[in-house]
Amino acid sequence: MEMRLQKFLSMCGLGSRRACERLIAGGRVKVNGSTVMEPGTRVTDGDSVSLDDKLVMPLERYYYVLNKPPGTLCVDRDSRGRTYVVDLIPGAREQGCFPVGRLDLDTTGLILITNDGELSNRIAHPRYNITKTYRAVVTGTVLDRDIKGMERGVALEDGSFVRDIMVLSIKRHPKGREVLLSIHEGRRHIVKRLFLALGGRVVELERTGIGGLRTEGFRVGRWKRLDADKLRKAIGMDR
Ligand code: URA
Repeated sequence: MEMRLQKFLSMCGLGSRRACERLIAGGRVKVNGSTVMEPGTRVTDGDSVSLDDKLVMPLERYYYVLNKPPGTLCVDRDSRGRTYVVDLIPGAREQGCFPVGRLDLDTTGLILITNDGELSNRIAHPRYNITKTYRAVVTGTVLDRDIKGMERGVALEDGSFVRDIMVLSIKRHPKGREVLLSIHEGRRHIVKRLFLALGGRVVELERTGIGGLRTEGFRVGRWKRLDADKLRKAIGMDR
């Protein structure tokens, strides 16, 4: 398959396409033994590509979806011995996988785990506008009317405004209300902050969907491997 040199280097795990363009511009990349400084150069299957005179090869790409258990971390830095979500998938750490975005320690539900930095960056890009669905149990005296009103947008505590919220259902719950909502935002603690803006507190949070991927029938702690095309289709990136 023919492709641009920076894409090939990125598939070898050498960073984003932009970072790989810098490697090329720095004169560190050779194709078939000759230094190439033109990023658009096309390479094909038979070409040998090296960085600093070391041959590089595309890495196998892995894509997983995990139903994250509560109490597990999306960062690999913990002095308290809590589990890093990547370690729930045998071999994923060795494959260089990392979670796409973050869920809080107490949040359960779907998280993508991959070693494909490029796809991960694209998933986070607002252009793809990927819908995430959450089930939130909310306490406090929040009126159903105000919850429904989230669809008109919510001003957060930092003055920013969140649009594109859909409230899919509101049910009674022993602790208050159980709300199913969809958003496109990926900012940290976003669902908790939305309800805080209404005077409520989220005491239980599950990400039930990313695009067309759903937690239904998929127990907490379970994971499955997807191929890139299936994943792109499932989360609506093929449009
Ligand atoms: N919003 C939150 O508040 N927490 C999460 O883990 C995900 C979205």
